[in-house]
Amino acid sequence: MKEPNPTTDPIGQNLIKLISNVCFSVFVFTVLVITVIAITYQPPDPWESSRALTRVFTEVENATFQIDTSVLKTGEDVGMAMVSPAAAPSEADADASDTQNDTQNNEIVQKPEESSEINCDESRLVNCSDRGVLMAIKKFNLKRFKSIVFLDYQLPVNGSNANECDVSWRFRNRKEKSWRRYRDFRRFKIGYTDDCNYKVVGARGWHSGVNARRPRARFNATRTERTVKVSPSYRDDDINDTIPVLGSDLAFRNGKYLYYSRGGDYCKNMNHYIWSFLCALGEAQYLNRTFVMDLSVCLASTYTSSKKDEEGKDFRFYFDFEHLKESASIVEEDEFLKDWKRWEKNHKKKIPVRKVPTYKVTPMQLKKDRSTIIWRQFDTPEPENYWYRVCESKAANYIRRPWHALYKSKRLMNIVSEISGQMDWDFDAVHVVRGEKAQNKELWPHLDDDTSPDALVAKLQNIIQPWRNLYVATNEPFYNYFDRLRSHYKVHLLDDYKELWGNTSEWYNETTVLNGKPVEFDGYMRVAVDTEVFYRAKTQVETFYNLTADCKDGINTC
Ligand SMILES: *[C@@H]1O[C@H](CO)[C@@H](O)[C@H](O)[C@H]1NC(C)=O
Ligand SMILES: *[C@@H]1O[C@H](CO)[C@@H](O)[C@H](O)[C@H]1NC(C)=O
Ligand SMILES: *[C@@H]1O[C@H](CO)[C@@H](O)[C@H](O)[C@H]1NC(C)=O
Ligand SMILES: *[C@@H]1O[C@H](CO)[C@@H](O)[C@H](O)[C@H]1NC(C)=O
Ligand SMILES: *[C@@H]1O[C@H](CO)[C@@H](O)[C@H](O)[C@H]1NC(C)=O
Ligand SMILES: *[C@@H]1O[C@H](CO)[C@@H](O)[C@H](O)[C@H]1NC(C)=O
Ligand SMILES: *[C@@H]1O[C@H](CO)[C@@H](O)[C@H](O)[C@H]1NC(C)=O
Ligand SMILES: *[C@@H]1O[C@H](CO)[C@@H](O)[C@H](O)[C@H]1NC(C)=O
Ligand SMILES: *[C@@H]1O[C@H](CO)[C@@H](O)[C@H](O)[C@H]1NC(C)=O
Ligand SMILES: *[C@@H]1O[C@H](CO)[C@@H](O)[C@H](O)[C@H]1NC(C)=O
Repeated sequence: MKEPNPTTDPIGQNLIKLISNVCFSVFVFTVLVITVIAITYQPPDPWESSRALTRVFTEVENATFQIDTSVLKTGEDVGMAMVSPAAAPSEADADASDTQNDTQNNEIVQKPEESSEINCDESRLVNCSDRGVLMAIKKFNLKRFKSIVFLDYQLPVNGSNANECDVSWRFRNRKEKSWRRYRDFRRFKIGYTDDCNYKVVGARGWHSGVNARRPRARFNATRTERTVKVSPSYRDDDINDTIPVLGSDLAFRNGKYLYYSRGGDYCKNMNHYIWSFLCALGEAQYLNRTFVMDLSVCLASTYTSSKKDEEGKDFRFYFDFEHLKESASIVEEDEFLKDWKRWEKNHKKKIPVRKVPTYKVTPMQLKKDRSTIIWRQFDTPEPENYWYRVCESKAANYIRRPWHALYKSKRLMNIVSEISGQMDWDFDAVHVVRGEKAQNKELWPHLDDDTSPDALVAKLQNIIQPWRNLYVATNEPFYNYFDRLRSHYKVHLLDDYKELWGNTSEWYNETTVLNGKPVEFDGYMRVAVDTEVFYRAKTQVETFYNLTADCKDGINTC
């Protein structure tokens, strides 16, 4: 944008310049608004890939003005071309093959160890510690849950009645590309086969084996790493969100940092946030520098219950900071500033800093810079101050956005596992887009009718067997809207699982510790969980292409 120079011009010319400048600004602003709207109003399927996002950000054309609060696929999701499971822990591999080996053994080894005598007394009590019990359970699980990879089992313990055993294990979901592990513990009723082996005669549901659940080793997720004692019983299904600290002047001085001041991206839609954040992280990787990261997130009004932008959210509410720490070089902003200040105080001299006022200085130009800190400032007016502009044009050939570094929060994914687990991973799902799109008859003339309760019943009956578990992922706020489906299916809605984030939940406890005060389960979290549960369904019915012939992006766009 051209800068006017009003002070030296005659008044008339000055005025004309001013007016044209204002006009230009209005134009730029309009383009910006359209850009932002295009970002905000992504097609509903949360389920957008980064390629679609690229399109939206690079071709600001006929944007569809429709509210959409979709969630991007992140590194752990299925079907993302650019993603490979980041550094699959070899231990997990070993676990997996162990399990498989056990399974093969299973076919042979299931004899109750003490009863090698012929006396196969059905009334004999089951000894849960017997290896055969675990074998029988493993075999049972493998048959029952095809979408689950079972990892290390614990030794079964007594249930609450005779012949009941509780056992706990970790698993990963085949539909998730990450190697993240989740825990389940269930209660099994054990009996005997004709030839006197153990067999499972009954299995209770998700998280029913409470005796096998070990007390969680909790640790303080706030900034206490320097002092906190790491419990030896720390388990990897606990979340290590702690903010890394450099700790020493030397470590600080030896680092090289890329520091981004807050730009115009702040309080924008979450997809915009991700797009910008990954650009910044990509630049840091290109420059081989540690990225200085602001964990504080401003949640845009589209996702808040107050309908206003809300500051002071934590990155860790939404994303997996532990995974990010492991896959990218980052340092938290407050820690960084503290270290910087302390170093200059201790050494009575300045750290070399290169200040970069505009995105027009390209990453390639900074590649050779030896300054300890490269500080991009983004002081220019919108849209010049968006982080993602750094990755535009030529830079796009050099910078790769590290999508694999961004996973959804493990705490949210635990809720996803819990919901899917409660349905025993045996459910179908339908995604029903309503909201603003259903109201807009111009762009989506049939959507409202095609997603009406009667239409849903008629359509789904051709696709989904009666009395299946049916998970409905939707932005329809009226809970009873789907009641008509209840005479054909076991309908599940996100709000049926309220207790998973209610004030007695693990999620609530953990986020409270993280935040210092209770955290609201906000709109973005809702969509993220809804989306991920949908992905885990056996049959997935989409609104667009499956329920209605209307186009995702409005009339005549498909
Ligand atoms: C935008 O839409 C209008 C009307 O649908 C069409 O005439 C115009 O060519 C479109 N512009 C672009 C850039 O696609
Ligand atoms: C699998 O079991 C067989 C014997 O049953 C054993 O020889 C082999 O080493 C085992 N493999 C693994 C990976 O544990
Ligand atoms: C159960 O089995 C384990 C391992 O086989 C054995 O050590 C234990 O003594 C048995 N307990 C009873 C009550 O039989
Ligand atoms: C488990 O149950 C068996 C039989 O019901 C009993 O003999 C054993 O002592 C119990 N073990 C524990 C640890 O309670
Ligand atoms: C975590 O550590 C902070 C700082 O030491 C402390 O104020 C807070 O009470 C701790 N939280 C818990 C749950 O222990
Ligand atoms: C958490 O991760 C950090 C590295 O980011 C590590 O230094 C620390 O020991 C871990 N804490 C626990 C309790 O494992
Ligand atoms: C990146 O930086 C690290 C240390 O800061 C250095 O060891 C490494 O050689 C650098 N890599 C490249 C490709 O410059
Ligand atoms: C949890 O919430 C319910 C209602 O939302 C409230 O009645 C109850 O007092 C709350 N409990 C705690 C421990 O905050
Ligand atoms: C949450 O914390 C409260 C108080 O610390 C505790 O009583 C409750 O059992 C915890 N709930 C869960 C699910 O961890
Ligand atoms: C939904 O539509 C897509 C595209 O037409 C099709 O590939 C898919 O099989 C349909 N899904 C169902 C469950 O009918």
